[in-house]
Amino acid sequence: MRASSLHLFVSTGLAIILVGASVLVWVVDPAVVQEESIDGEDLFMAKGCGSCHQILGLSEGSIGPDLTALAEVAATRVEDLTAEEYVRQSLLDPQAFVVPASSVTEMPTLPLAQSEVDVLVEFLLESR
Ligand code: HEC
Repeated sequence: MRASSLHLFVSTGLAIILVGASVLVWVVDPAVVQEESIDGEDLFMAKGCGSCHQILGLSEGSIGPDLTALAEVAATRVEDLTAEEYVRQSLLDPQAFVVPASSVTEMPTLPLAQSEVDVLVEFLLESR
């Protein structure tokens, strides 16, 4: 009798510790923390966007269009796309719409995670 209640005590205790530990791992998972705190400006520079695009006060690239006031222009680029849809498409499928009179260099399709696209779209549509 004593042995089985000790067994129950120990296994319940273990179960509580295991659940607690996995909740803790989930809460402090560095990947999750990093993803949420990533800054649009830093990501723009880290992905090399700034080497082709100018944003006043941030980068001086001149191969692609100036993105300083993209929010204004993005809504007018493609008739059926909102500004946000257009910017998203520009990142995921750059050749779907090519800005008229832009340079001969094509914009490459860059490897971007879904969360990075979200951060960049929000950053690019901030009014400056
Ligand atoms: C090798 C140079 C190059 C790099 C790197 C590059 N782009 Fe571009 N980008 C271009 C060119 C050229 C165009 C214009 C042609 C086109 O529309 O595809 C363009 C177009 C765009 C447009 C549409 C602009 C408009 O006025 O409609 C957006 C938005 C954009 N790029 C964002 C980005 C972001 C964000 C990154 C980084 C993840 C990036 N680009 C990296 C060259 C580049």
